[in-house]
Amino acid sequence: MDLDKIDINQAPPMEEAARQYYFIAECREWVKDFDEKHGRLPKSCVTTFGCQMNARDSEKLAGILAKTGFVETEKEQEADFVIFNTCTVRENANMRVYGHLGQLTPVKRKRPHMKIALCGCMMQEPEVVEKIKKSYRIVDLIFGTHNIFKFAELLFTCLESDRMVIDIWKDTDKIVENLPGERKFPFKSGVNVMFGCNNFCSYCIVPYVRGRERSRKPEAVLGEIRQLAKDGVVEVMLLGQNVNSYGKTLDEPCTFAGLLRQIEEIEGIERIRFMTSHPKDLSDELIEVMKHSRKICRHLHLPVQSGSTAILKKMNRRYTKEQYLELVRKLREAVPDISLTTDIIVGFPGETEEDFEETLDVVRKVRYDSAFTFIYSRRTGTPAAAMEDQVPAYVVKNRFDRLLAEVQNISAEVCAVHTGNVMPVLVESVNSHDDALVTGRLSNNLLVHFPGDESLIGQIVNVKLNECKGFYYLGVQEIS
Ligand code: SAH
Ligand code: SF4
Ligand code: F3S
Repeated sequence: MDLDKIDINQAPPMEEAARQYYFIAECREWVKDFDEKHGRLPKSCVTTFGCQMNARDSEKLAGILAKTGFVETEKEQEADFVIFNTCTVRENANMRVYGHLGQLTPVKRKRPHMKIALCGCMMQEPEVVEKIKKSYRIVDLIFGTHNIFKFAELLFTCLESDRMVIDIWKDTDKIVENLPGERKFPFKSGVNVMFGCNNFCSYCIVPYVRGRERSRKPEAVLGEIRQLAKDGVVEVMLLGQNVNSYGKTLDEPCTFAGLLRQIEEIEGIERIRFMTSHPKDLSDELIEVMKHSRKICRHLHLPVQSGSTAILKKMNRRYTKEQYLELVRKLREAVPDISLTTDIIVGFPGETEEDFEETLDVVRKVRYDSAFTFIYSRRTGTPAAAMEDQVPAYVVKNRFDRLLAEVQNISAEVCAVHTGNVMPVLVESVNSHDDALVTGRLSNNLLVHFPGDESLIGQIVNVKLNECKGFYYLGVQEIS
């Protein structure tokens, strides 16, 4: 879309993508005026909390800001427009956002023209919006997850207004395609395949703040990936809260395994990753596709949450400990070198010492490459928040420390098994501590540092893995 051809003297179009381009053109005029007034371009800063889905959304926000002419900065205090893309999955995610807002309060006093925006999952909670309206008057714009596609329009309204602009939708069944977007890395990209979640795990706020599950049409996903491949992207990460149930809500249903088969055919794409997989929906068809694929990475993130069947039931996860272990067995049988990672919650209401021992047992049996361990956080409005026998904090802390020690010991052993092997590495960046080194990723997602320069970024090269340092390798490139 050519922004110069948009006539902003006309009324904004109704078709959504065209409408948002129109508002980008409007914002560009605002940026020009700013430049004339201040003798410099305005700066923007996008700060992201939460999961890969939020990270992908933030790339799109940054893309729109760049198109309007804002210059990106990482320093919130220096920006003329700051946006926080928030997460509310655990209480500490919320606390961090309030912390950032607190720090910006004196800054905004000195720089009153500064605009501060909030979006993302936390904004879908009415109590949060009330609190901000009352206690954080420095905020200029609030919107939620369902109308993020309207960002250009909301940005323009905010830039032109002196009042706090608030636009939150309760839900949506809409997926808006063909919006402008941007990528942080030229060689890899996240690709949304579905939005929302219908699982309602009893501890989890995501279904309430992200809405009902909706899948993008296969043609839309494939079209986007073909374009990415043309632009030089070699690795895609397919994103959804529960990718294994992809396609179920489409008029012409398509399985996730079927989608993967078609992505495999796209020339130029070398690596395919996806997250997150829910164990209950991981099909034999998917295992079969993974077994025969040349491109799907040898890594699966398979959150177990708990090893106790009783707790899993209270969590509404809809699998048992035995079913989970059987799934792992099948996966390892089909793909012997697969690396498995997981998420575990400690201290779910009613968790006994025996339940916790079951979790340790799963950790010892599966031997994860790594595990994200979380202390259960009570989320208002979820069924678990109302459950009796919440576990006392000191008990949870003790279990958490024991779990972490176990996970780390196993992970150090598991990760070291590739020592001495030569394996392909996708180079991602110059090493942040030592610029004589570059950093890349193995198919199994482990990081590797080795001597090299910028010219290798985006390439897949063979590296001899000389030494394992726990969760990363040091190596040297093998030139054949
Ligand atoms: N859709 C993904 C997870 C999204 S949230 C899945 O089903 O696996 C990421 C992780 O946060 C979850 O796997 C879970 O381990 C953790 N989590 C979610 N709600 C939580 C809560 N209330 N307290 C602690 N951890 C939580
Ligand atoms: Fe939350 Fe469960 Fe949905 Fe994951 S699958 S987002 S844990 S409700
Ligand atoms: Fe957080 Fe929302 Fe992701 S609550 S984990 S940012 S979907």
